Amino acid sequence: MPSIGERIIAWYEKQGRELPWRETRDPYRIWIAEVILQQTRIEQGIKYFYRFMERFPSVQDLAAAPQDQVLKAWEGLGYYSRARNLHAAAKQLVGPYQGLFPQHYSELLNLKGVGPYTARAIGSFAFDNATGVIDGNVLRVMSRVLGDASPINEQKTRKAFQQIVDEWVADVPSRIFNFGMMDIGSTICTPTKPACLICPLQVVCEAYEKGLTTTLPYKSKKLKRKTRFFHFYMLEDEAGNFVVRKRPAQGLWGGLWEIPNEETDLQHWQDQQAVYGGSYQLGLKHVFTHFDMMLQVYRLPLAKAPEHFEGELIPQEEIDTYAFSKAVLKIFDRIF
Ligand code: ADE
Ligand code: SF4
Repeated sequence: MPSIGERIIAWYEKQGRELPWRETRDPYRIWIAEVILQQTRIEQGIKYFYRFMERFPSVQDLAAAPQDQVLKAWEGLGYYSRARNLHAAAKQLVGPYQGLFPQHYSELLNLKGVGPYTARAIGSFAFDNATGVIDGNVLRVMSRVLGDASPINEQKTRKAFQQIVDEWVADVPSRIFNFGMMDIGSTICTPTKPACLICPLQVVCEAYEKGLTTTLPYKSKKLKRKTRFFHFYMLEDEAGNFVVRKRPAQGLWGGLWEIPNEETDLQHWQDQQAVYGGSYQLGLKHVFTHFDMMLQVYRLPLAKAPEHFEGELIPQEEIDTYAFSKAVLKIFDRIF
């Protein structure tokens, strides 16, 4: 009987997806693609990937670029610390590594912003390191194939699955195996209606045999409230007017006015580093029903603000004529 690895390789050779970052062994291109794909779906990811490659064709180009240009290329993807980390890692790579990527997992992990997933992905896709690469889709496939109800949102499940997938990949080329697992997860073993009848893993799948395909995977309920981190910007012109804008009608703070802001990550938030070099003013916590918002406020001259922060300029005295969210009113209270 063919092994799981052999089944996946055979399937991939017929049914695998052709994607721009799969046509190369260049670790630079692979790395950039993986980081983009952590932020967005494939379709939009392809656009960002081509654009990024056009602007920064090599790691040397990326390392030499001004930070503004890197952030600009990242615009719209969110979590700007990812872009800053890419830039910092590129500088690491042209320094001690002379532009050559390390091949070993442990060394890849030393690059700024490169965690276990990305280090394994670069290691496998560029160098065929014998390692499984587990993304959300692969977690679901594994949970079903194994018939394993361990909570896939918990670290210890991921660790156990990593060991198992590393055994599956041992007798085949890892690059093709991992592409195949990802594709089976996103095109066949889909969340709600897995296409078991055309799945290459059907004969080894516990969930299929036991009728658990839509019951698995299992996720534990986390009691801990979610916390999200934001930067808010007071963008001021020389006359002391500042930028406000109206939020879309739907969603959080629907239709209310706000000052420009964007979500960031914990690391970046803790470091009190404004994305666009504004000066730090104050920090606040704001409680919503579904999450806590931790926000920091920065002041920035309008001339230094990025385009996507466009809005209307209003003087301080007109604050009362607009409907602002409670969080923004708290900010005004502390600043004015
Ligand atoms: N191929 C290589 N990396 C991928 C990813 N992160 N998602 C989908 N397909 C990929
Ligand atoms: Fe997923 Fe069904 Fe294939 Fe099992 S047989 S891996 S549940 S698609």
